[in-house]
Amino acid sequence: MKKIGLITSGGDAPGMNACVRAITKYCLNEGIVPVGFNDGYQGVIDNQFCELTFKDVNNIVQSGGTILGTYRSNQFRTREGRDKAITNLRKNEIDAFICIVGDGTFTGASILSEEMNIPVIGIPGTIDNDIYGTDHTIGYDTALNTVVEAVDRIRDTAGSHNRIFFIEVMGRNAGFIALNSAIASGADSVLIPEEDTNIQELAKDLMEQNKGRKSSIIIVAEGDDGGGAKEIMTNVKPLMKGYSLRYSVLGHIQRGGRPSAFDRMLATRMGAFAMERILAGETNVMIGSRGDDLHTLPIQDAIKITSSPDMTKLEMLQKLRTIG
Ligand code: F6P
Repeated sequence: MKKIGLITSGGDAPGMNACVRAITKYCLNEGIVPVGFNDGYQGVIDNQFCELTFKDVNNIVQSGGTILGTYRSNQFRTREGRDKAITNLRKNEIDAFICIVGDGTFTGASILSEEMNIPVIGIPGTIDNDIYGTDHTIGYDTALNTVVEAVDRIRDTAGSHNRIFFIEVMGRNAGFIALNSAIASGADSVLIPEEDTNIQELAKDLMEQNKGRKSSIIIVAEGDDGGGAKEIMTNVKPLMKGYSLRYSVLGHIQRGGRPSAFDRMLATRMGAFAMERILAGETNVMIGSRGDDLHTLPIQDAIKITSSPDMTKLEMLQKLRTIG
């Protein structure tokens, strides 16, 4: 094995750089050339790459974003786009490929391994944590901590004004960030895509919990079936006369920032483990974590099986309501 290609794809996630660094350094120690393509699969199609050196990955373990850039490439979803990518990988004599990617982009990794017949390994990188086969994806822990810090700040002003705040967090299809940030921030209610939202019941519950016009926090996953925080607040308002309601959308601050120690360790270990597995001849697999251990599973499993948060946590939150 002489050259390994590498991309980051999908939404960026804190810790991706730590992973790029680990793969680069491992490669260089093994006498392999690490080739970083820019902007995900699009960079492979456009043949935009650089051969990474120790200098390129100096001082990046602590930085958010991704030095390689990322993009959700529609062109790669077409046969023509993939043919261009494969031609470039062959032209550049890439012997194996590692993708640090989110949910929607694992399909690309698998297709590449089948259509080009080179070893491909996927590493889960997304703040959403919505990938089957791993306890944690790279970036999730940092995003969760960012959300909890933001909610703590909003709680100060909510308390001072006796306001009910609807706070929207990321998670298009999954409620991992919402549910776990609700627990960690002591929220009074949480709305996630995995559970139907009933506006009448929500208003009734909030009034029961706020009889003395106290403040409260409701975490809303952006993908909730009842809508985002603004829509939920607007629909609840007519049912909660006399209460002061506000909403806040945390948005992309959740994706940026210095990765937590947990994400740096996870990303570094996953990068090194991907190298180990690829050198051992594994292909078309994803790296996952269970507790403190790392393992591999078929990328196809990660694509086919939907990952959902532990719903018993929602039941637990129900038991922790403040009534009156
Ligand atoms: O990376 C995942 C994610 O942050 C989702 O939580 C969110 O819905 C989406 O990406 C936002 O994507 P974009 O930055 O392209 O608007």
